Amino acid sequence: MLKKNVEKALNQQIATEAHASFLYLSIASWCDTKGFEGAAAFMYRHSDEERMHMLKLFHYINNSGGYALAPKIEQPKYEYKSLAEVFRTVYASELKVTDSVNELVELCTKERDFSTLNFIQWYVAEQHEEEVLFRSVIDKIELIGDDGKGLFMLDQYLKTLNPEKNTGGEKAEEV
Ligand code: FEO
Repeated sequence: MLKKNVEKALNQQIATEAHASFLYLSIASWCDTKGFEGAAAFMYRHSDEERMHMLKLFHYINNSGGYALAPKIEQPKYEYKSLAEVFRTVYASELKVTDSVNELVELCTKERDFSTLNFIQWYVAEQHEEEVLFRSVIDKIELIGDDGKGLFMLDQYLKTLNPEKNTGGEKAEEV
């Protein structure tokens, strides 16, 4: 049985994952309309992945005697100047998600809720992999700068990236 404060924090994490999912959807749409087809495909997939992260929390809360709540979603940022700004936004978003996952770890430890602590470890590992992935994309963009050919090659590369495979993550619903 979940303690109320742990349930509340898990519901807050639902909102955090949902916001990431919609932010990435917004970014995918921007990429789509600017000719970055590969980046768009990559971010559409990543938006889906964040939704899976959210659903995994829904099932855990409801299976543990709590009540998962669908969150209110604010409209995410939709205007960007460049692909570099896009991926810096994604990376900043991932750092925020990591912070909230770490707060959950801290709370579960304090409350001696070892079941939820065990559950949340999956997110700890996932965040590490995602930070590495997005940091590597930013590094490539910084190497390329404004070179059009380089950006085209990067876009082709992003088209081949599968977030689940490349982050080492597993499908959320299978975990
Ligand atoms: Fe589920 Fe990338 O945070």
